[in-house]
Amino acid sequence: MFAGLASEDASKVRMLLTCVERLPDGSEEGIYYAIDLGGTSFRVMKLELGSGSMVINKKVEYRPVPEELTKGTSEDLFDLIASALKNFIEREGGKDEGRALGFTFSFPVRQASISSGSLIRWTKEFSIEEAVGKDVSQCLNEALVRNGLNLQVTALVNNAVGTLAMGHYYDEDTVAAVIIGAGTNASYIERSTAITKCRGLLTNSDLTVVNVEWGSFRPPQIPLTPYDICFNVEKKRNHYDQAFEKMISGVYLGEIARLVFQGMAQESDVFGSSANFLSIPFIFSSPCLAAIREDDSPDLRVVGRVLEEQLKIQDVPLKTRRLVVKICDIVTRRAARLAAAGIVAILQKIGRDGTLCGTTNDRKIRGEPKRSVIAIEGGLYQGYSVFREYLNEAMDEILGDEIASTVSIRVMEGSGIGAALLAASYSSTRQNSA
Ligand code: GLC
Repeated sequence: MFAGLASEDASKVRMLLTCVERLPDGSEEGIYYAIDLGGTSFRVMKLELGSGSMVINKKVEYRPVPEELTKGTSEDLFDLIASALKNFIEREGGKDEGRALGFTFSFPVRQASISSGSLIRWTKEFSIEEAVGKDVSQCLNEALVRNGLNLQVTALVNNAVGTLAMGHYYDEDTVAAVIIGAGTNASYIERSTAITKCRGLLTNSDLTVVNVEWGSFRPPQIPLTPYDICFNVEKKRNHYDQAFEKMISGVYLGEIARLVFQGMAQESDVFGSSANFLSIPFIFSSPCLAAIREDDSPDLRVVGRVLEEQLKIQDVPLKTRRLVVKICDIVTRRAARLAAAGIVAILQKIGRDGTLCGTTNDRKIRGEPKRSVIAIEGGLYQGYSVFREYLNEAMDEILGDEIASTVSIRVMEGSGIGAALLAASYSSTRQNSA
């Protein structure tokens, strides 16, 4: 993290500057629109805010991103989003004129201002190569014009930053945000003086939000197993692309387990003779992995059903089912513990892990540790209780009970809303009333 604050190139985590130097404080008012793009679906939303951290009204619509558009042209992708927003505004009977628009774009972006920035690279399932290097706000603004809309991106934010904004809107002790969904990432509030690579972007503010982009953290600091996806696919290039993300997040956990099952099937006959499906990449999803790990029936009925339905392996004996549960458990536990280690690293970086307070028992010298809130968003974390338990357990273990009791994790479904809040807080009029 220190290396990334000094220079992007030398670091395993990019520590991207976000140009966010103030976070929503509850005084925002008016009607704002937002778009949230980051996975296989996107969201359009309308938010009506009243002062005092009051969301008066919220309307959200989910739309799928057809797979071909994740690999097609940027024009087609942004046209899809713009036309969805247009239909949404029309159906809502709203006005687009002069409205501020928040754009959550959950990929690494080199921010030029709060409202613009160029795509550094795609991650997760997207790969529209011609878009790399382009200003994604401009791409969206042009699509809005093509679709006859009269509004422009006011705030371009990563989902980790949007979640932090929403967390802070509700609780000022929110110091960081973490995404554990299809991908994984974190953002936090840093002292501006700690950022030595500022590229002339920082103003007078004492604080600035950093987008860690921790998904790209990689060996040798984290050990890989032969089953890790980045190890299997990328070892020849010695690149370990998005290694941390591939050990933690929803797109990949099921696939790691599948690679282990495949290895077992090659080396033994635990799955009998009908294990052909095990060789199909990504056939075993993370929700299947979670369902298996959470099966607490004595005969592991759910495990049997998932293996039969997803992998076409029938009549798996109880002993093998237990082994399958164990593997899903190991993959989950490692992922949750790595995420916890990442969160603690951020707390350490900002002096909220207790170490700045010293190690003596004298509370006067040491001072009371401050309360720290971590906002978390993401389907894997929200939908998988075992993952949550392991993450909490690891945080307690690393921080110790006393410091751990000052850290609260708060679930926020907030990345899109956070972008609208930032659009509100950065729009010049502030009074964006209906
Ligand atoms: C990937 C993206 C990052 C995003 C994360 C979670 O790691 O690079 O920007 O925040 O996924 O969606």
